[in-house]
Amino acid sequence: MQKIVVLTGAGISAESGLKTFRDSDGLWENHRIEDVATLDAWQRNPELVQEFYNQRRKAVLETTPNVAHYALAKLEEQFEVHIITQNIDNLHERAGSTRVMHLHGIITKAQSSLHPKLVYDIVDWELKMGDRCEKGSQLRPHIVWFGEEVPMIEPAAALCAQAAIFILVGTSLNVYPAAGLIDFIDNDVPKYIIDPVAPPVHRYQNCITMLGKATEKLPELTERLLANA
Ligand code: OAD
Repeated sequence: MQKIVVLTGAGISAESGLKTFRDSDGLWENHRIEDVATLDAWQRNPELVQEFYNQRRKAVLETTPNVAHYALAKLEEQFEVHIITQNIDNLHERAGSTRVMHLHGIITKAQSSLHPKLVYDIVDWELKMGDRCEKGSQLRPHIVWFGEEVPMIEPAAALCAQAAIFILVGTSLNVYPAAGLIDFIDNDVPKYIIDPVAPPVHRYQNCITMLGKATEKLPELTERLLANA
């Protein structure tokens, strides 16, 4: 089976009602990164950080995957599909995709604030101050904050190097190292770009830009790929 690598960002979940970060009315317009998405923020005001991610978790649990997530799941009928997502929601998994790598963590899990390898499922939507890991330290959201290492970046780059087809969906490519993953895709590999606003991909060869929403363009592309497989 041919290997398809897909890098997704907040835009693929926008039509499930989850806010993107940098569009107008995006999350970073209403919250300062340095107040809610850094280790410093957590050390200064953990309650505010917990509340921010509790609201994100609630929104994820209350919504459902959209046709773009389902289109990627269907692609597994004929291809070995690997999704690398910057998203912290679980909508790819809930749509049925089986190989999903979360670069920036996942909102449905918690980690120990002192022992980051201790990771736990969160049963409900709320993670509270006083919820502790088995060694007694406070649990925090299992999210990669700005300034923290991205532990999955090396396996993600290795996957990109093996892609026969690459699809980029709904990301502004503003955040590194994720935005640099496209550098690992071979020059000859077709690179489909789906976004209403084209991200900066000019320097790459073999880009096919499909301007539009993920729910329109992704089913169109996946049908085409499946028909020609
Ligand atoms: P951004 O908010 O930066 O970009 C969202 C992208 O989705 C933009 O290019 C939009 O044009 C596009 N978009 C909007 N609606 C869309 C739709 N219906 N269909 C397809 N595309 C659509 O989000 P990301 O690039 O994902 O990291 O942001 C990357 C990282 O920055 C996030 O993972 C997060 C954030 O800070 C952390 O929190 C560590």
